[in-house]
Amino acid sequence: MTKPGCLMVGPMSENVVAQLNALFTVHNFWEAEDKPAFLNEIAPTTRYVITPGSRGCSAEIINGLPGLELVASMGVGYDAVDVAAAKAANVRVTNTPDVLNDCVAEVTLGLMLSLAHRIPQADRYVREGHWENAKYPLADELFGRRAGILGLGRIGKEIARRLEAMRMEIVYHGRTRQEDQPYRFYDNLVTMAREVDWLVVIAPKSPATNNIVNADVMEALGPEGCLVNVARGSLVDQEAMIALLEAGKLGGAALDVFAREPHVPQRLRDLENVVLLPHVGSATRATRRRMEDLTVANLRAHVNGEALVSPVA
Ligand code: NAP
Ligand code: 8YV
Repeated sequence: MTKPGCLMVGPMSENVVAQLNALFTVHNFWEAEDKPAFLNEIAPTTRYVITPGSRGCSAEIINGLPGLELVASMGVGYDAVDVAAAKAANVRVTNTPDVLNDCVAEVTLGLMLSLAHRIPQADRYVREGHWENAKYPLADELFGRRAGILGLGRIGKEIARRLEAMRMEIVYHGRTRQEDQPYRFYDNLVTMAREVDWLVVIAPKSPATNNIVNADVMEALGPEGCLVNVARGSLVDQEAMIALLEAGKLGGAALDVFAREPHVPQRLRDLENVVLLPHVGSATRATRRRMEDLTVANLRAHVNGEALVSPVA
């Protein structure tokens, strides 16, 4: 019997490809030169799409595959999948929540420790031989400081647990107060920013969160305050952030995500009071394996007529 077609939007690991090959005829979208013609050619037999969360799935793909049933996206943030187009076409969408919470929280803690203690800068100081001539300047610490979490969700809660272990005071902002949480809730982000030392951004990308961390929020965080963004670049007004960092009106920034990845503006790269990572919040072998397996488990469940493991639509 002919296997149904599965469109792979961007390259994925050998683990994913091996599991898919057992179930489907896999079509590599990113290799096609004439994409509309390619979609046309595979449309009659293609029922599934699998995609790295960063690439997502456009309305062109969804509407170009009239037999499509499911888009399985690898990543918890599914902002690059056109969910409205999927719903309109009666196509289900899945993501990979929870399996990456610990990894992203660990990377966030690493970013914060790096920025407070100036660890990357101190490492460079030793490598470049400056220690031979002078002691490294004193740094800062997390102990006793107050951290405000923007988005106390699945990952935000794991970040909070780790910051508690640093003996930080935790507060949070979101659209709703979570009565079961022990932390103080702020219904106003600017007010929270004014009263914390660290602002940790870990809410989803959406029209409502676009530039939610604007100049007012960052000015409220102030010259001693530090901004951490492990969510999406779109949540922070990057131009305003760079200007405030340059002017000393924002103390520092630790960033895993940027407005236009993988481009990181030279002005940001030139700053000393920042730590910059190439979107690696979930990028460990163990976590990526869990994300991959959950992505395929959703496809498998759908093929077997079972309930989806982690649907978003
Ligand atoms: P989640 O469990 O859905 O939590 C999201 C939190 O954001 C919730 O507490 C929600 O609280 C809050 N929120 C949503 N909309 C908001 C708004 N308009 N204003 C203020 N707060 C808002 O999501 P998660 O699994 O923790 O993941 C969060 C995001 O992290 C993902 O969407 C993804 O973009 C990002 N992420 C990045 C990496 C990386 O590699 N850097 C890895 C994984 C995830 P309320 O509902 O009360 O507002
Ligand atoms: C990955 C992420 O960069 O899960 C998310 O939302 O941002 C990351 O885990 C990516 O989605 C993996 O494809």
